[in-house]
Amino acid sequence: MADAPRTVLISGCSSGIGLELAVQLAHDHRQRYQVVATMRDLGKKGTLEEAAGDALGQTLTVAQLDVCSDESVAQCLSCIQGGEVDVLVNNAGVGLVGPLEGISLAAMQNVFDTNFFGAVRLVRAVLPGMKRRRKGHIVVVSSVMGLQGVLFNEAYAASKFALEGFFESLAIQLLQFNIFITLVEPGPVVTDFEGKLLEQVSTAEFPDTDPDTLRYFWDFYLPTSKELFHSVGQSPQDVAQVIVKVIGSTRPPLRRQTNARYTPLVTLKAVDPSGSLYVRTTHCLLFRWTRLLNLGLRCLACGCLRFRIWPR
Ligand SMILES: NC(=O)c1ccc[n+]([C@@H]2O[C@H](COP(=O)([O-])OP(=O)(O)OC[C@H]3O[C@@H](n4cnc5c(N)ncnc54)[C@H](OP(=O)(O)O)[C@@H]3O)[C@@H](O)[C@H]2O)c1
Repeated sequence: MADAPRTVLISGCSSGIGLELAVQLAHDHRQRYQVVATMRDLGKKGTLEEAAGDALGQTLTVAQLDVCSDESVAQCLSCIQGGEVDVLVNNAGVGLVGPLEGISLAAMQNVFDTNFFGAVRLVRAVLPGMKRRRKGHIVVVSSVMGLQGVLFNEAYAASKFALEGFFESLAIQLLQFNIFITLVEPGPVVTDFEGKLLEQVSTAEFPDTDPDTLRYFWDFYLPTSKELFHSVGQSPQDVAQVIVKVIGSTRPPLRRQTNARYTPLVTLKAVDPSGSLYVRTTHCLLFRWTRLLNLGLRCLACGCLRFRIWPR
């Protein structure tokens, strides 16, 4: 007899990775999942409902959930049949870029409230049930910025580092309950995420920031960041596919990176535990060897280099 479908709750499904993941799981050809695709503003559900097609109302339902609100989490869980979540995907997240001196503490706190405490809030709500049933899987959409810092993204990277430390710690205890944790670490992904950040900075003035720092931000960081998204950016469909595989596996890994083209940068940190290799190389690439960096990114974009480095 086939197993009963697993209930998968996903946060942040109005767009991007969350939306794609919800749709792919709902269309699983073995119908292994009942997807509760959530978003904080149900006024945005049109795109998801259209993409879900005939899965809507069958293997996919849409529900309201603001990860920053206890009431919203309780209300959402109370609407799930039996209140049981087998797989939780903490996907909702916001970014923040700019010179540190020009960003308010309130803006940084908002990033932590959503990216870190939002995930913690949801986990605390579903964990007692998972522990009682002695099974479950918690997936956290982290980032390569949860592994290594990136200039002008200090608060965002810190929120993802916080997730990594929190969930790695929790994973050890939860194995005792047959509950798995997976931190998914995408590199750049071409979603609304980057557009929202660019919109934020286009109107920002960054008061109290010295002219040199502002120049580095506008003239070095932003153009390189755009080039990076263009050259090594993945589609949300590709990232969702990786998460679908992770959810379907019997022994899910603790960490899963999604983008092989980003691996060289992550490796810089892994091979030198002192951290100097990563910090110095990234500094030189950005500020001294800009032409080399751009050439490398163009090669990655065209794909020729990739096939020489990674065997097919
Ligand atoms: N795009 C990238 O380059 C990239 C790379 C690595 C990791 N990630 C991570 O991937 C995840 C998904 O991002 P994405 O690229 O798919 O971007 P996205 O399209 O902007 O999706 C982010 C989602 O989070 C939702 N959200 C924000 N605050 C929320 C809250 N308080 N409660 C509930 N939902 C909330 C957004 O809802 P609204 O529409 O209401 O704002 C949206 O649905 C994030 O955790 C992000 O940090 C992204």
